[in-house]
Amino acid sequence: MVKLKLHVNGRDYELDVDPRESLLTVLRDRLGLIGVKKSCGVGECGACTVLLNGVPTDSCLTLAVWAEGQCVRTVEGVARPEGELSPVQRAYVEAGAVQCGFCTPGLVMTTTAFLEQNKDRLASVTREEIKRAHAGHLCRCTGYEMITEAVELALGREVKGAAECLEISK
Ligand code: FES
Ligand code: FES
Repeated sequence: MVKLKLHVNGRDYELDVDPRESLLTVLRDRLGLIGVKKSCGVGECGACTVLLNGVPTDSCLTLAVWAEGQCVRTVEGVARPEGELSPVQRAYVEAGAVQCGFCTPGLVMTTTAFLEQNKDRLASVTREEIKRAHAGHLCRCTGYEMITEAVELALGREVKGAAECLEISK
């Protein structure tokens, strides 16, 4: 076992972990953050996506020890503290992009980071850019169109998720 320090959703954690453990396992099984989904386990589906220092990352492919001292944000850290949905989450609901919901937490993280990365040019973001940014996510329910619409809906809204994460990681 090795000691691991993580900064997750604004809180500091110190844990003893097996050096072979994935970040996914540590987040779900040790910290109880079950919004991080496990599906394929091999980097194909995007369900396990979290923000690592603001960058969408497959937590199933990331050893927990690689995240030592870094800032992790999961879907649990996106909603407002009082439980109000974030603008991105609201957009997914309003666009009908949440059906079984299994892919949704990972997609919400990617959309949050995408909007933050493009915050100075939201009005000129194209559908092609949206599709490319979300290409690493598989969804068996929506046919993807409603996901693209959700991102378009979110484009005009204030997005703080990734920005907060980057601030925390400084
Ligand atoms: S569970 Fe990580 S990419 Fe599918
Ligand atoms: S909403 Fe069911 S997999 Fe995407």
